[in-house]
Amino acid sequence: MNKCPESMEELNELESMIPMCRKELYAQAASRIESGAAKNISDASRQIAEETNRNPESIRKAITRAKTEKIGTVSQLLGDDLVNEVVKETNEIKRENQKQRKLERDREDAILAADYVEDSSTKIIQGDFRDVCKGIGDESIDLILTDLPYPREYLPLWNNLSYIAARVLKPDGFLIAYSGQYHLPYVIRALSERLNYFWTFALYHKGRSQIVNNRNLMCKWKPILIFRNGDNSRFDTTIPDYVVSEQPEKDDHEWQQGESAIAELIEYFTKPNDIILDVCAGSGTTGAAAKKLKRRSILIDIEEDNIATIKRRLSNE
Ligand SMILES: C[S@@+](CC[C@H](N)C(=O)[O-])C[C@H]1O[C@@H](n2cnc3c(N)ncnc32)[C@H](O)[C@@H]1O
Repeated sequence: MNKCPESMEELNELESMIPMCRKELYAQAASRIESGAAKNISDASRQIAEETNRNPESIRKAITRAKTEKIGTVSQLLGDDLVNEVVKETNEIKRENQKQRKLERDREDAILAADYVEDSSTKIIQGDFRDVCKGIGDESIDLILTDLPYPREYLPLWNNLSYIAARVLKPDGFLIAYSGQYHLPYVIRALSERLNYFWTFALYHKGRSQIVNNRNLMCKWKPILIFRNGDNSRFDTTIPDYVVSEQPEKDDHEWQQGESAIAELIEYFTKPNDIILDVCAGSGTTGAAAKKLKRRSILIDIEEDNIATIKRRLSNE
């Protein structure tokens, strides 16, 4: 077995071999000691580590634990150092695979996007939304539904969005914005510059969660901020204030959102033929849901690759 798996297949294989590995490591060490080839567990561990290009201390720990413990978790078997190493390397492999898949998809998208036939219900525009939106008429948009990038460097975009929304939204129109948790106070302050806070919905992540390391929290939901241009009166019908993200959908964009949750929001907040604006469209999830629900949409993204992805995605709808 190599020091670390070099592919997901190898990792899966490694995982399925764990009970065997533990016994095998222990048996190997015992037989070396028995035959006199090794003086003790430390000596046997050093030898095995040298032969398999692993950390001797991790091997020693694994063997000692294998000797004394009945249940073998991955950490108990291999030692924390090696587990961390394996996790780090597999994450790198995953990232590299994702990068490769994205490159392949971008190439395919660029080809398929050439065949995209513009239809009157969807406008797809490449550019910085702060410029592109200058071409959108005052009070012409029924709903802004968007998902700005979460990292800190993008925070100033929220202030721009607040001003743009106040101008292009119809009176009493809604803005729905997916937001991360970290910078929530900033985001709410920025949007409040020109809009009225209406409510916060939850996007519940079904069946998966992300550990936020520097808070030590298992994140099961994401805030969806609802702001309004003007009047904050009640809805005509009663709707729940959460939507569910069934499963990760990341085929088209690293930050892709689940389409069913977006479709639900569109159904709650608009009617057929309304115009929805997404200023950071990514892979075009808002546009795909809007098209299926017979709403019109304007989709803006700054990246050429994303525009090709949107065109490919929408020509399949
Ligand atoms: C969080 S992603 C959106 C993902 C999208 N909701 C989906 O389901 O695919 C944010 C997107 O904003 C785009 N973006 C960042 N800055 C922008 C800007 N100033 N104008 C337009 N798009 C921008 C990025 O290229 C990225 O695709």
